[in-house]
Amino acid sequence: MALPITPDYDSWPIDETLVKVVHEARYLSVTWSDGRVSRFHSVWLRENAADDTTVNPATRERILDLSQIPAWPEITEASIDEDGALSVLFTPEDRRLRFHPGFLRANDYDNQDALPPELPPLTLWHGEQLEQPPTIDAARLAEADHGSAQEAEILYPTLHELLGKGLVRLRNLPTEEGAIEKVAERIGSIRTTNFGHLFNVRAIQNPDSNAYTSIALPPHVDLPTREYQPGLQCLYCLENTVEGGMAVMMDGFAIAAALKEEHPEAYATLTTVHWRYANTSRNTDHVWYSPMIVLGQAGELLEVRIADFLRGPMMAPFEQTETAYEALMTLQRMLREPRFAMRFTYAPGDMVIFDNRRLLHARDAFEGDSGSRWLQGCYLERDEVRSRYRMLKRAERAERVEEATQTA
Ligand SMILES: [Fe+2]
Repeated sequence: MALPITPDYDSWPIDETLVKVVHEARYLSVTWSDGRVSRFHSVWLRENAADDTTVNPATRERILDLSQIPAWPEITEASIDEDGALSVLFTPEDRRLRFHPGFLRANDYDNQDALPPELPPLTLWHGEQLEQPPTIDAARLAEADHGSAQEAEILYPTLHELLGKGLVRLRNLPTEEGAIEKVAERIGSIRTTNFGHLFNVRAIQNPDSNAYTSIALPPHVDLPTREYQPGLQCLYCLENTVEGGMAVMMDGFAIAAALKEEHPEAYATLTTVHWRYANTSRNTDHVWYSPMIVLGQAGELLEVRIADFLRGPMMAPFEQTETAYEALMTLQRMLREPRFAMRFTYAPGDMVIFDNRRLLHARDAFEGDSGSRWLQGCYLERDEVRSRYRMLKRAERAERVEEATQTA
């Protein structure tokens, strides 16, 4: 026998082994070689088994319907077998199922605080602390095969910075029109919008956005007018010889945290009152209502929706209106404070990727006839970054497992 497969596609290194198991009918406790004790419920174990009555081996998706088992799954026997797997006999099915210790350790829900974070933790920043985007030389990216170690060497730190600080700058990419697409698709699918699959940020005649002029743009996120605003924005510089037009970025989460600390009433208002966001052009009419700072159930920051030129007429209850505007102006004053802003100049071959639901971007005005400024842009979702990052971690684990197998 060998170790059982796991219900996922992952490879789980065995850093600690199982040394002891004791069980009750409805849960068991295992002791690990480092002394940690983990409890697992019988029902949890039953549905996370990897056999073909539980998951479809072709898709690794669950096919078991727990409610179809005639009674609550209980444990009649549990042991550690000669391969180091946890072996459990379940009733009423009278079915023996085996569990990979690496999988159990990685999914130890009884000791969640001891698990390594799945994704890099958020690092909030002010421009005073982070003066330039975290920068990675991507000159060798174009020649790297998809899924290769060479690609991972560039992508891993890229995604790490993106998930932690909300932005990253790749440098020395080819200055070819459309090259952005190849880089973005190394992370995931591009989200097409009414501005196109890719969009060109340069001054044009008859613009349908202030972005396509040479005027200054205030700090904003793109498309807060959508129910689901794009999670990521990529801006890729092809030409930049104009005077002015410096890029400005700020961490909207750091601003929200400062607002909470310094103006708690304004924070309370901006996390609850709904504003109307509107992007009405000649051919489209996108409208969405949302608080300006969106929190999760535990009060954590999920997104900011700050874009003054994309707010429609407010439609909050009459009694809330003045309070809402007061809070808005408090926030607007903070946005003008120099402590939050990072300023930098795009060089041709730079691609800045940033979390569009967290960071605000802005631009100084530029002299339209002093040269040319051409950025290409596209959107992706946060999901794509998280998935790609997990895939890189998975590849790293597979390599560790492979090495361990070879030395064994
Ligand atoms: Fe923008």
